[in-house]
Amino acid sequence: MIRTRFKDFDHMYMETERLIIRPWKEEDRDPFAQLNADAEVMRYFPSTLSGERSDALMDTARERTREDGFCFSPIEEKTSGSFLGFVGLSRPRYATPLPFDPCVEIGWRLSRAAWGQGYATEAARAWIGFGFETLGLQETVSFTAVVNERSQRVMQRLGMQRNPQDDFLHPAIDADHRLAPHVLYRLSRVDWEGGLTG
Ligand SMILES: CC(C)(COP(=O)(O)OP(=O)(O)OC[C@H]1O[C@@H](n2cnc3c(N)ncnc32)[C@H](O)[C@@H]1OP(=O)(O)O)[C@@H](O)C(=O)NCCC(=O)NCCS
Repeated sequence: MIRTRFKDFDHMYMETERLIIRPWKEEDRDPFAQLNADAEVMRYFPSTLSGERSDALMDTARERTREDGFCFSPIEEKTSGSFLGFVGLSRPRYATPLPFDPCVEIGWRLSRAAWGQGYATEAARAWIGFGFETLGLQETVSFTAVVNERSQRVMQRLGMQRNPQDDFLHPAIDADHRLAPHVLYRLSRVDWEGGLTG
């Protein structure tokens, strides 16, 4: 059961069984920096992030809300109020476009303590519903390094489909880097609606 309190995009809250998805706030900076400094969380990214880069990422997410109406948003545990990380939608903006641009991607990054409890999937389901029902998207994509199997399991749990012909080298990573080969998963509105009724 997902409840959305949607007044405008700057005040967007969604509530799932165990989580609250909400706008960024200043108090998120410290736990977000800790998460971005954790080598295990950042294993499938080129590097961990300094506090400065973590802050910049949060600031960018806030700007995206104003530009696009959505962003990678914080999720917190309802019972404890703890910041767990982010899950959300984003329009990628790389200097070199992705082979499947324009697109809206769904992405996630949680603190290690929050793994293994289904939180990423629970929040992502809420976002996917919001994307199709409120934003009127026709498709949501997700992509990750081939070696990031944990993230791909979330995509599969969401009912997203991979076509190996869509595999690509990430344009922002050197082609010979171990993280360059990427997989693309897609979920169409039609398939998502079919999953709801089927
Ligand atoms: C990718 C990431 C979000 C996945 O987190 P996750 O906890 O494995 O994913 P979910 O939230 O879907 O949880 C599913 C796990 O919770 C378990 N689980 C426990 N209780 C559950 C519940 N009530 N409901 C659903 N699943 C539950 C599932 O069995 C599953 O465990 P398994 O993978 O060992 O089988 C996390 O590993 C992460 O933040 N990684 C670092 C950042 C990253 O790589 N991001 C992606 C870049 S593209």
